Amino acid sequence: MSDVSRETSAADALGPPPASVVTLAGQQEPLLQRYAAWLATEAVPRGLIGPREVPRLWDRHILNCLVITSLVPAGSRVADVGSGAGLPGLVLAIVRPDLRVVLIEPLLRRTAFLDDVVVDLALPNTEVHRGRAEHFTGAPFDVVVSRAVAPLGRLLSWCMPLVRPHGELLALKGATAAAEVAQSRSALHSCGASSWSVRQVGADYVDPPTTVVRVVAGPARR
Ligand SMILES: C[S@@+](CC[C@H](N)C(=O)[O-])C[C@H]1O[C@@H](n2cnc3c(N)ncnc32)[C@H](O)[C@@H]1O
Repeated sequence: MSDVSRETSAADALGPPPASVVTLAGQQEPLLQRYAAWLATEAVPRGLIGPREVPRLWDRHILNCLVITSLVPAGSRVADVGSGAGLPGLVLAIVRPDLRVVLIEPLLRRTAFLDDVVVDLALPNTEVHRGRAEHFTGAPFDVVVSRAVAPLGRLLSWCMPLVRPHGELLALKGATAAAEVAQSRSALHSCGASSWSVRQVGADYVDPPTTVVRVVAGPARR
């Protein structure tokens, strides 16, 4: 199959954005479509997205991330730990130009893809950092987001040192969220969290809604 016909069939498989994407993305929707096209085309041969994921990119991946934008305070500095192909960090950066977003990802193949997307979309609020979260030494963040990276206990040890005092971790989780919180009680206490909760977000826009573990940092972090 030629590159052109492969890209055409991938774009066909992606389909148009659902109404909820149009509503939530507002005037940023054309830019979000451009990112979705990168996911449906380049990300597949580069091994970042499985071909079978393309028909469900909008619902299962992009909308799953898009609905958490309402949880992020205006003007936040945000890190996406284990960004992969940019989920949820690039979605946040695209629809929320008020945010400053750092995509933290150790694998070169993935950071190369992220760099290409950031350049193509001309995103001035986005930086790609190649490295593991636990080795990150930059300034702490208002909000750290992470999706499909590690069990909650390990995620806390990687991410909470990156959260500023009174900042928060938003971990996008599936059906295991409540059980992971229950299993991570001692880690939640020892990482300096002041509170935590499990929330369902976006029930009006996506089925199933996105399950988010929100962990608020206490006053005395690094
Ligand atoms: C299953 S992928 C999920 C990617 C993306 N967040 C998503 O939802 O599609 C997990 C990602 O976490 C990255 N990762 C694994 N360990 C990490 C660490 N210690 N620090 C930062 N990223 C890590 C991997 O390289 C991989 O890209």
